[in-house]
Amino acid sequence: MGEKPAEKFRAVRLSRSIVGKAEADAVSAVILQDGYLGMGKEVQSFERELAEYLGVSPDAVCCVNTGTSAVHLAVQALTRPGDEILVQSLTFVATYQAISATGAVPVSCEVLPESVTIDLADAEKKITKKTKAVLPVHYAGHAGNLAEIYTFAKRHNLRVIEDAAHAFGGDYDGKKIGSFGDTACFSFDGIKNITSGEGGAVVSSDPAVISAAKDARLLGVEKDTENRFKGARSWEFDVTRQGYRYHMSNIFAAIGRTQLRRLDNEFAPVRKRQVADYRESLAGVAGIKFFETDLKNVVPHIIPVRVLNGRRDALREFLKNAGVETGIHYKPNHLLSLYGGGATSLPVTEMLYGELLTLPMHPGLNDDDVAFVSEAVKRFFDV
Ligand SMILES: Cc1ncc(COP(=O)(O)O)c(C=O)c1O
Repeated sequence: MGEKPAEKFRAVRLSRSIVGKAEADAVSAVILQDGYLGMGKEVQSFERELAEYLGVSPDAVCCVNTGTSAVHLAVQALTRPGDEILVQSLTFVATYQAISATGAVPVSCEVLPESVTIDLADAEKKITKKTKAVLPVHYAGHAGNLAEIYTFAKRHNLRVIEDAAHAFGGDYDGKKIGSFGDTACFSFDGIKNITSGEGGAVVSSDPAVISAAKDARLLGVEKDTENRFKGARSWEFDVTRQGYRYHMSNIFAAIGRTQLRRLDNEFAPVRKRQVADYRESLAGVAGIKFFETDLKNVVPHIIPVRVLNGRRDALREFLKNAGVETGIHYKPNHLLSLYGGGATSLPVTEMLYGELLTLPMHPGLNDDDVAFVSEAVKRFFDV
């Protein structure tokens, strides 16, 4: 009897939404029982449940229609046009667009190559009189040097806006991300740790931030949230600040509430296990380098790795031919025309950009899928 031939092709998706009957039933209940699709009681319940999950006051949470809107409203609440914000270039363009939408200026900083979190030594050199905030991104869910970031911010009198789009459900120093510190922004888009279809939330220990975000999500109509949660709306009102149509709908909230109940027992353990499996089975592959993580506390949103010796694109092609979809998280923002087109150089970020490859990881994969991807990577490297 010969050995089973190695499986050479299997369609494995990079990521996908994990929704089913429970979410469909929740949406159906909003449509058939309540019938109010805008921002109402379902959103209020989602905010309360998020607050309970995080261990914060219900008044500390403001749900919006995307994670990008969450960052936009947090930055608008905390800075003025022309202010500078220290941010790592290696993040999704959503972070940068959200900053520049307010008129604030994203100042591109390096990351630490081990963790892809902001390099504070580089950030410090870029502080000017206009610097008002630092915006760390919890890349792949890992908050890295967050305590140091808060110390740094205190020393330089800066606000902290955490882009925690990747980090929902994670812990840091025994506390939930978003439950301590200044202001954090989450994303609940289709492929995040939990989804509400599309959606996001601002969580802040500063009531002024939440109050500003709550007004701004409803076109700047003051205190309209309170009316909406009672099934009413404001007819006589004043507007003092720029606002947007960024509120969350009851339909989105119904999906989000269902997903929140599935996170700890269903989604988080699978994400952690898949990352642990990849790390174990590829540990001996010299051409691959993993980033730091802490699987006891982090709920990983993606699993990016470094592919060394200029072989990233070849491995990507090899995996594609084996049916495996991969990603590159992310093209650094300082290379984009709107943010300088590469006029400044960030050598570490640019080096990582040439090496980054994200492997498939989501609760829709089974152990065989993950093993297949690992085997394919090893085949490429002749391990
Ligand atoms: C780091 C980061 N920030 C912000 C966002 C924006 O979230 P959303 O897609 O919900 O607008 C994303 C989304 O992928 C992200 O990855």
